[in-house]
Amino acid sequence: QQGPAFDSNAMTLTRFVLQEQRKFKEATGDLSQLLNCIQTAIKATASAVRKAGIAKLHGIAGDVNVQGEEVKKLDVLSNELFINMVKSSYTTCLMVSEENENVIEVETERQGKYIVCFDPLDGSSNIDCLVSIGSIFAIHRKRSTGEPTVQDALQPGNQLVAAGYALYGSATAVVLGLGNSVNGFTYDPAIGEFILTDPEMRVPEKGKIYSINEGYASDWDEGVRNYISAKKDPTKGKPYGARYVGSMVADVHRTIKYGGIFIYPATKAAPNGKLRLLYECNPMAYLMILAGGLASDGKKSILDIVPQKIHERSPIFLGSKADVEEALSYLK
Ligand code: AHG
Ligand code: MN
Ligand code: MN
Ligand code: MN
Repeated sequence: QQGPAFDSNAMTLTRFVLQEQRKFKEATGDLSQLLNCIQTAIKATASAVRKAGIAKLHGIAGDVNVQGEEVKKLDVLSNELFINMVKSSYTTCLMVSEENENVIEVETERQGKYIVCFDPLDGSSNIDCLVSIGSIFAIHRKRSTGEPTVQDALQPGNQLVAAGYALYGSATAVVLGLGNSVNGFTYDPAIGEFILTDPEMRVPEKGKIYSINEGYASDWDEGVRNYISAKKDPTKGKPYGARYVGSMVADVHRTIKYGGIFIYPATKAAPNGKLRLLYECNPMAYLMILAGGLASDGKKSILDIVPQKIHERSPIFLGSKADVEEALSYLK
C-alpha cells in the first residue's frame, strides 16, 4: 500500500498569486507582494489560534474596542500581526482594522498604492470554546492623488481589487477572490504552504440551509420573520436545515460550499445590523458574487453601498442566487 503521494509540483497560494500576476504584463508585483505578506499574517495567526489554550492566549485582553466589544487577547495579537506584515510589504498606504478606531497610516517611506481593510480575528466570541474563527481582508487601490486620507478608505465594494478570508477550522483554509475567480486553499503544515484544493469555486444556484441568529427573532422586521417561517413551513416545500456558527467566516464558507443563505438583518436594537461594511460585508459580498451568488442589504447590492464611516454597519442577505432573491421578495 503506497503512502500518500508527495506532490513535487504542488500549486501553492504563493505560486497561484504569481501566476495570476503574469496575466497582467504591466503588473509591478506589488499586489503579489501584499497578498504574500497577508498570507504570512494568516499563517502566524493560525499558529497562535492553534496554541492559544497552551500559550495562555485565551480570554480577554482587559479593554473594550471601538465596537464596544470586550477585546480578546487573540484579537490584539492577530491585529498586530496584520498591521506589521502589511506595513512591511511596502505596498500599502492606509489600513482600516476592526480593532482600531481610526485609520492606520503607513509612514511615508513604507507607503504603497493599496488600502487594506481587515477583520483580524472574526468570531471572537467563539475563541475560548474552540469553535471555528477566521480573518477577513479587502484590498482597494488608492484612487485619489495626494496624501492618503480616510476618504481613500471609503470606497464602495464594487471598486475592490481583491478580497479573501482565512478559516481556522478543522483545517486552516484561505479563500481568495482575485481576477475573475474565487479559489480555495488548504494549509499543509508539513510544508507550511496553502495548497490549491478548491479551484474556481461556484456557489450552488440554490441551497437547503438558512443561517441566522434566531435569538433575535422578536426583533426582526416582518419580512424577515415571514421568510424564515416559510423556510420551516412544510406546506411551502421541504423545510430548510438551520445552521448558525456565529463566526461569519465559518457561516459564509459553508454557504459558498453547500449553498443556502446567510442573513444578519437589521433589528430594532441594531437598525443597520451588526456586521461591518468595510471588512466583513464587502469582502464576503465580493467573494459570493464572484462565485455566482448574491449579497444585498435588503434593498441593493452590498457592493454598491458608498461608505460614509469606516466602521459603519450594514444588514446583509448573502448566498445562493435563488435563495437571496426569494428572501428579498419577502421584504417590503
Ligand atoms: P467579530 O468577532 O470580528 O467582532 O465578528 C463577530 C461577528 C461575526 O463573526 C458573526 O457573524 C456575528 O458577529 C455573530 O453575531 P451574533 O453573536 O450577534 O449572532
Ligand atoms: Mn469584534
Ligand atoms: Mn468579524
Ligand atoms: Mn473581529
